[in-house]
Amino acid sequence: MPTKNEDTLLQKPTDWRAWVNDLVRYKDTTLIASILAENLETIHQAFTFLDGDIVVASHPKSGTTWMQNIVSLLIDGADPEKLKGQALYQRVPWLEGKEDLDCDWGYQLLENQASPRLMKTHVYGPLVPPTMLQKARIVYIVRNPKDIAVSYFHMHRAYHFLPDVPWDEFITELFLPGKLQYGPWHKHALYWWKLSKSHSNILFIHFEDLVKDLKTQVEKIAVFLGKELTVNAIEKVVKEASFESMKANQAVNYSQVEAMGHEISPFIRKGTVGDWINHFSAEQNRRFEQTFEVWMDGSDLQIDFL
Ligand code: A3P
Repeated sequence: MPTKNEDTLLQKPTDWRAWVNDLVRYKDTTLIASILAENLETIHQAFTFLDGDIVVASHPKSGTTWMQNIVSLLIDGADPEKLKGQALYQRVPWLEGKEDLDCDWGYQLLENQASPRLMKTHVYGPLVPPTMLQKARIVYIVRNPKDIAVSYFHMHRAYHFLPDVPWDEFITELFLPGKLQYGPWHKHALYWWKLSKSHSNILFIHFEDLVKDLKTQVEKIAVFLGKELTVNAIEKVVKEASFESMKANQAVNYSQVEAMGHEISPFIRKGTVGDWINHFSAEQNRRFEQTFEVWMDGSDLQIDFL
């Protein structure tokens, strides 16, 4: 569990099973530390959402940072001057983050933000404060869970405070049973999918559609956010949100964060659809498909794996 102690943040846990046992089960979801659960309680009780707030919501590794950047660029009118000098994770703070997680990009930053305030959350839908649904506009980004599992696996390799887990165990013992932070994936995605059908203030976007046609999706998000941008400004957003630009941009690629071992696996890693093919054995794929079928039973949410 990360604490304010740098040594802890920079020291890889050696026993991943013990680390998993220390994760906290909290109201139907898994959290990295009890601190996060406490923060959720605080946010629930004390945080007031305002008209105009904009939230990027997602299960981890779904393209959250990508969407944070798109939303931030759209709100700032793609003005490069406004985008200089502030890390994206501070421009779009982490709602449930707080200093006691050694995170200086938590919700306290929102207190000084001008409207519209931008934020991200990975919180499982039923746990978000009800005022968020009443007040905010929410962009939920969903991604196929096979690529999420791969991306999550590499994140564990890279982050100094997360344990390395062998790939087979990572899928079968952690990802599929929902034992990673904010898991299980299907509860997260299906809750928001269902909610998006009855709430016009929730926009549901697929990672795979962003990869296929970024411009069309950016235009759609701009309309949802009520931003009328010129053709040039939209083009600028698309350029700044491209994989190559984001990989090279220190304000968005987390390369300044010491606890993430970018030399092992960079945060902006591959950005493709279907990298799971390079990782899954036939047997792992069979097990995954079997679980996926159970997860999706009765849901009309379409997920593209390729
Ligand atoms: P990969 O590890 O598969 O490359 P999150 O921000 O939710 O943690 O998601 C991280 C994933 O989004 C990573 O996936 C990362 O490469 C991908 N990503 C971030 N910016 C992207 C972009 N501009 N284009 C494509 N993928 C991007």
